[in-house]
Amino acid sequence: MKKLLMVAVAATIGMGSVSTAATAGGFNVKKCKACHAVSKHKMGPTWSDVAAAYGDEATLAAVFKGGFKVEDRKLANENSKWKKKAKLMTGQYKKSIRGHEEEAAQALFAAVKRGKI
Ligand code: HEC
Repeated sequence: MKKLLMVAVAATIGMGSVSTAATAGGFNVKKCKACHAVSKHKMGPTWSDVAAAYGDEATLAAVFKGGFKVEDRKLANENSKWKKKAKLMTGQYKKSIRGHEEEAAQALFAAVKRGKI
């Protein structure tokens, strides 16, 4: 099982140079679309708000790398509405972002620049 996981991780890293509309550094943001949009609140906050709160991808990547603790999340700490839903995002973090922190942060800022996820 662990070996399988390593193969999957290696394959993902290998895709690092591929960059299409929905990906950055091999990270696909399509799965985030269920709950996020660039400029409309869905289940989660708009990514324009996320980009404005973190300022740049390095800052967001650092928070991802730190384990994406609720106390480090800027929007959740500014707005109790998001804080109440933090668990929902924690599940997504564990499933899709952990191990791909930099690509995920890059992909988010790229989506905001593009104007759509
Ligand atoms: C099942 C719904 C769901 C999916 C799918 C989802 N999110 Fe979220 N996300 C949320 C919710 C709810 C919040 C608000 C709670 C919070 O801020 O922790 C949020 C907040 C965030 C925040 C801001 C955290 C803060 O408080 O500063 C970031 C960054 C983020 N999501 C990135 C992503 C990325 C990248 C993906 C795709 C890999 C993704 N989300 C997929 C529900 C989701």
